Amino acid sequence: MDTTSEQYERAAEVLRQALSLFVMTGAGVSAESGVPTFRGADGLWRNYSAADLATPEAFSKDPALVWAWYHWRQGIILKAQPNAAHRALVALEARFERFLLLTQNVDNLHFRAGSRRVLELHGNIFRARCCRCGRKVPHTIEEDAARSLPECACGGLLRPDVVWFGEAIPSDVWQESVDFLKEAQAALFCGTSGVVWPAAAIPGFVREQGIKTIEINPEPTPITSIVDLSLRAKAGKALPEIVRRIIEPG
Ligand code: OAD
Repeated sequence: MDTTSEQYERAAEVLRQALSLFVMTGAGVSAESGVPTFRGADGLWRNYSAADLATPEAFSKDPALVWAWYHWRQGIILKAQPNAAHRALVALEARFERFLLLTQNVDNLHFRAGSRRVLELHGNIFRARCCRCGRKVPHTIEEDAARSLPECACGGLLRPDVVWFGEAIPSDVWQESVDFLKEAQAALFCGTSGVVWPAAAIPGFVREQGIKTIEINPEPTPITSIVDLSLRAKAGKALPEIVRRIIEPG
């Protein structure tokens, strides 16, 4: 079903009425930049094993394999540019007194587009963390092209600073999000399958708070049945359309 003009207008009206906006994004927001999602037809988890590449056990067993996969993904992301959805979220941020963008993406594209109030729930693929001393350092594929395994200044092995399956999410990011949601008046879920915990708990929590909710996704998800308004559209079309209607009402 195509999203109608009336649905876009309803979404714009929800956002016009709100003073504070919470946004949660997932891989779908970067799909139109050419960054693969995880669970779609060409999703990464269709072709690669999460157990072999995205767990602490996988890294202990074969750190070179895990690094090779993260460096390959870095290469794709470095060639990608923020898309119309990322840019529309920058424009939305500017219109709200209170705004928070919680992303499950590790690709940095929200920051590259110019978003400022961004919290990363699953880390950042361009950062590494020392397995020995815990130090966090910026890290891109170029920095250790000559070596197979990146090392910290302390001599410890560096790992991607992302959250792997079986690992805890950053508690400060979670707490800040939950605190923000206690005051939020509208929430937008965009480009996420809504199946990975604990992020998957957020839509239900938002609903319990009585916050107005909108989903943008070309496919139905577990979030669809609990939001006030579900826009079955790509983020790169729907978000700019909503922003345009907010900026130029009528
Ligand atoms: P998924 O790959 O699970 O879901 C992507 C969602 O984006 C799907 O629901 C698609 O229908 C939707 N989508 C595709 N193209 C879109 C577009 N142009 N506009 C809007 N939506 C679109 O990605 P996430 O929900 O982000 O975690 O996955 C959550 C976590 O699972 C990831 O952060 C990652 C993964 O395992 C870790 O690596 C820890």
